[in-house]
Amino acid sequence: MARKGKEAVKEATEALLEEQRVFRPLPEVVVEANVSPKEYQEAIEKGLTDLEGFWEEAAEELDWFKKWDKVLDESNAPFYKWFTGAKCNITYNAVDRHIKTHRKNKVAIIWQGEPPNEKKKLTYYELYRRVNKFANVLKSLGLKKGDRVAIYMPNLLETAIAMLGCAKLGVIHTLVYAGFSALALRERVNDAKAKVIVTADGLYRNGKIINLKETVDEAMIECPSVEHVIVVQRTGQPIDMSDGRYLWWHDLMEGVSDECEPEILDSEHPLFILYTSGTTGKPKGILHVHGGYMVGINRTLRWVFDLKETDIYWCAADVGWITGHSYIVYGPLICGGTTVMYEGHPLYPKPDRMWQIIDKFGINILYTAPTTIRMLMRFGSELPRRYSLKTLRLLGTVGEPINPEAWMWYYQNVGRERCPIMDTWWQTETGMFMIAPLPLSLLKPGSATKPFPGIHADVVDKEGKPVPVGKGGFLIVKKPWPSMLRTLWGDPERYVKQYWDVIPGGVYTTGDVARKDEDGYFWIQGRADDVMNIAGHRIGTAEVESAFVAHPAVAEAACIGVPDPVKGEVAKVFVILKKGYEPNDELDKELRQHVRKELGPIVIIKSIQFVESLPKTRSGKIMRRVLKAQELGMDPGDLTTLAD
Ligand code: WTA
Repeated sequence: MARKGKEAVKEATEALLEEQRVFRPLPEVVVEANVSPKEYQEAIEKGLTDLEGFWEEAAEELDWFKKWDKVLDESNAPFYKWFTGAKCNITYNAVDRHIKTHRKNKVAIIWQGEPPNEKKKLTYYELYRRVNKFANVLKSLGLKKGDRVAIYMPNLLETAIAMLGCAKLGVIHTLVYAGFSALALRERVNDAKAKVIVTADGLYRNGKIINLKETVDEAMIECPSVEHVIVVQRTGQPIDMSDGRYLWWHDLMEGVSDECEPEILDSEHPLFILYTSGTTGKPKGILHVHGGYMVGINRTLRWVFDLKETDIYWCAADVGWITGHSYIVYGPLICGGTTVMYEGHPLYPKPDRMWQIIDKFGINILYTAPTTIRMLMRFGSELPRRYSLKTLRLLGTVGEPINPEAWMWYYQNVGRERCPIMDTWWQTETGMFMIAPLPLSLLKPGSATKPFPGIHADVVDKEGKPVPVGKGGFLIVKKPWPSMLRTLWGDPERYVKQYWDVIPGGVYTTGDVARKDEDGYFWIQGRADDVMNIAGHRIGTAEVESAFVAHPAVAEAACIGVPDPVKGEVAKVFVILKKGYEPNDELDKELRQHVRKELGPIVIIKSIQFVESLPKTRSGKIMRRVLKAQELGMDPGDLTTLAD
């Protein structure tokens, strides 16, 4: 597997270009699916000719306190509004409504801890009561509709309870992935002006205990808006709770009423902010709202993953990312499904952990990322082959283009050529699947297939003109959709500039490049901008550069993404040192530690190269594409703006 970078890219590109295999779904999969081929055709048609009608029908599947006056309000584009005039609450739809039905005693969440003997099951009724209690705890701390709560936690039951409890009150949550550093947490908490942080004493990761509370302490040195920190006791190691602002979750929950009426919210009331990397050093606060978001994730989950009442569904992502929001917590619960939440590392205690979990619970649908599949592939097909995996019916992937080799491995060794693979293309910004097959679709390994009904995606050039079949271009979306982001928190101008003012024609720019083939299948090729995709995580090169420059030895830094056989992409950084500093191994190590502290362990740095100068435009901008071309032995393209 470990091929040199250049060869790997060439081979992968060639493999993609030559990929012509088509996989037909088994007849029984099509017959049993929630959506029939005829209904799918009609939906595609309706999405083209009657967009509002299509989404209105989708909205009818949910419970509203008051129905909408208008499905789509375009009067202030691109600040689109959906289901205006309607009143709703997403937690009511995800939890409350089920306890009036046969689902009351059904398992809502199966939680598996990293230590193999730790598991918990929570029924809808138990979840309902705990969410109510937590909402009452927030009330007792003075939180009101519109306030913000930061959640800095791994995959715990309490994480889902905290999210749902916030939403029940109309409090806006912002999850910060527990692998982020104190500085990253602080930046997000301060940007959102969160009043409360919910965290845990520690977390289990690959057999080790990581002290989360310590990181929160460090962040808290400069978090003026935070009045309280609620700490879940997970790992039980001794921690200092003497600061009066720190409160134990279990103390607060004790004796609190388990009844709490949902807040009756406008459809457009904010649900959460989720920060994601952009092309500047400052992360973007993507804002989603209650009404449209629940409509989008409910419809896509039922249709694409074919979620059924009897299914046990496992999305192996982290709740801290959009995938966890839409398709571990809100989506499956809205559908009344049983969702599995795994706390730990996929290789702990052994590399067969995922297969063991599938057999242990009888999982029917597995959703994971190409980087995880490639990591598991390294241990050979004997491991999954040792397990039955017979309950699996459907597989999913997300986060980056899946190379056909990994697709085939997943299809053959995990799905046993029986389970179709749903390659879902979407973004934090889109909230829901945008380009994805249905179980009835013909599949081509490496392609996310076609846009979901109602999604007007296309591939165009800089001027917004569609490019010919087979040619690369910018992936755009021409019409709004209900679970779209509404704005960037505190920065509406950047929202317009970043997404709507890039390509003419009032279209949404995704930031990805793609091509369409003769059958109208979309092949996503990667990012068009300076954003890397490291193990499915979006990381701006600018963020990495600014972390480097924050070190006293660094004068200038330029970061590029380079291919990696497992992570997809990793960072390579070119550094110019300040006078008086000498490049050596020790400094290399120190810089890596420094960046880890600034940004957290998700930024994987392949190498640091000390240089005397960097290629720049005459106006002084670093030309990363020149560095990248040099690194990968490719053509650097137009060099007329290069200063030197
Ligand atoms: C990439 C994750 C190819 C893409 C849900 C997108 C994909 C970015 C796929 C969003 C896919 C996601 N095939 N590329 N199936 N899914 N991407 O916001 O570059 O963390 O723009 O959302 O991941 O990443 P984000």
